[in-house]
Amino acid sequence: METKIATDRLRVSFGRETVLKDVTIKVQKNTITGFMGPSGSGKSTLISVVNRMIDFENNVRIEGDARIDGTSILDGSINPIELRRRVGTVFAVPIPLPRSIFENIAYGPKLKGTTDRTTLYSIAEDCLKKAFLWDEVKDRLGTSAMKLSGGQQQRLCLARTLALKPEIILLDEPCSGLDPISTAKIEDALSELKSEYTIILVSNNTKQIARISDFSAFFYLGELIEYDTTDKVFTAPAERQTEDYIQGKFG
Ligand SMILES: Nc1ncnc2c1ncn2[C@@H]1O[C@H](COP(=O)(O)OP(=O)(O)OP(=O)(O)O)[C@@H](O)[C@H]1O
Ligand SMILES: [Mg+2]
Repeated sequence: METKIATDRLRVSFGRETVLKDVTIKVQKNTITGFMGPSGSGKSTLISVVNRMIDFENNVRIEGDARIDGTSILDGSINPIELRRRVGTVFAVPIPLPRSIFENIAYGPKLKGTTDRTTLYSIAEDCLKKAFLWDEVKDRLGTSAMKLSGGQQQRLCLARTLALKPEIILLDEPCSGLDPISTAKIEDALSELKSEYTIILVSNNTKQIARISDFSAFFYLGELIEYDTTDKVFTAPAERQTEDYIQGKFG
């Protein structure tokens, strides 16, 4: 096992409220790590440290450290734009560009300087296949992405993220608004993608985390309560709070 992302006593406060309390976690390379916990437990905040979206927040204080491949991503030496290229993020609500399916995927590679149409097409095909969307859209790549269903749009957003060749993919409740079939396709896609990427999946669906993640982390009120293999967390949790949460007693 190789650590890809590590935090060391990471503490995040908004004004006087501390929302992540000394979180120390090591996320292993080429695995899916599930983040679960009730609303407000700090899952999205932790994600926003890893992709440095937290830079856009006002009145925030970050203490402790966060590292990718052993290098701090908080100490000012790292370029946040470069970092966000290495860390792709998929959010709960898919927001495609109001362009064609093809253009949604080609947009990123074009910005990075790829202009050859054949290359762009093969990138689109590859990424759409990896996102389990290809079969549904291969005959209409030129139509507007806005005409896709919500579940298809979410898979398009995953494909668009893949086209930027990140090392890490963060997904913050990517299936919360999706039908079971699209949800299953996203899960299948992630299970295959983990051989190439390090994936963090935030989900309010504990069954989903149990199904597809290798490691599971349970957060409560800004603290990392438990972190272990998914097997261990779901069959023999060390903490009572974890057990109660998994059994649906709160959250
Ligand atoms: N920009 C902000 N300014 C002030 N407080 C914030 C900000 N962002 C998050 N918080 C607070 O930080 C705490 C953790 O929020 P966060 O969004 O990380 O939780 P979460 O676990 O992702 O919850 P959910 O499951 O509802 O998405 C909450 O109390 C929230 O109100
Ligand atoms: Mg959240």
